[in-house]
Amino acid sequence: MQLWLCPLIAFLLGSIPFGLFIARMKGIDIRQHGSGNIGATNVLRVVGKKHGITCLILDALKGFIPVVIALNLVQIEGRKVGIPIPALDAFALHLPAAEQLTGQLVHVATALLAILGHNYSPWVGFKGGKGIATSAGVLLGLMPFAVVLLIAVWLLAFAITRYVSVASIAAAAALPLLTHVGARFHKGPDGRTLWEAGTWNKPLFVFSVVIAVLAIWKHRGNIQRLMNGTENRFQPKKKSNA
Ligand code: G3P
Repeated sequence: MQLWLCPLIAFLLGSIPFGLFIARMKGIDIRQHGSGNIGATNVLRVVGKKHGITCLILDALKGFIPVVIALNLVQIEGRKVGIPIPALDAFALHLPAAEQLTGQLVHVATALLAILGHNYSPWVGFKGGKGIATSAGVLLGLMPFAVVLLIAVWLLAFAITRYVSVASIAAAAALPLLTHVGARFHKGPDGRTLWEAGTWNKPLFVFSVVIAVLAIWKHRGNIQRLMNGTENRFQPKKKSNA
C-alpha cells in the first residue's frame, strides 16, 4: 500500500494552490495580475513580501513533507535516509537491498508527483504554477546538500540579472550536475554517502533531469518575455498607506 500511497499523498498535497488562497484572502485573483502565475514570486509581486514568503514556505513544505514521509514509509534495508520520523516506523515497508530500485523509484515518484500536483493542479484547471519552490522542497528532503548549491546558483544569477525567472532557469539547468555533486556529500545514518552506496545515481539523476526540463518548460512564457524585453525585473510590491 505504501508504494502507491506516497505518490498519491504527494500529488494531493502538491496540488493545494497556496498562492491562489493567500491572494484570495486579500481579495485578489492572482491569475489576473502580474505574470498570472500562482507561485510565490507573483504573490510577492502582487500581494506583498510577507505573503510571498508565506507562499514560498508553504509551496516548499508541500514538496518536502511527502518526500520525508516516503523516505520513512518505504525503507530500503540499511539505507534509511532523510529526517527520521520514529512514529512512522510501525507502518514502514522494509524492502530488501535487492529491491532498492523499487524503493528509490517510489521516493522519486513521490517527489515528482508533488511537483506535478503543483504544476498541474486539478483545482486550478490543471494550469498550476512553475514548481520552483516545490522542487526546492522535495530536493531538501531527498538531497539537502544539492539545495545549498542550488540556492547559491539561484542567488548568483539573481544578483547579476535581477530577474527571478532567469535565476530559476539557471538553477534548473544546473540541477542535474549539482545532483551529481551533492550525492558525494549527502550521508545516510550509516555514514556512507549516497554516492559510495551506489544507490543514488540512476533514479535520482533521471529525476533531476526530468524536473529541470519541466521547470524550464514551465518558464517558456518568461523566456519569450525575456527575448521580447518585456519580462518584469524583480520589484516587490510597495507598501500602500491605505
Ligand atoms: O518561480 C517562478 C519564477 O521563476 C517566475 O515567476 O511570476 O515571474 O513568472 P513569474
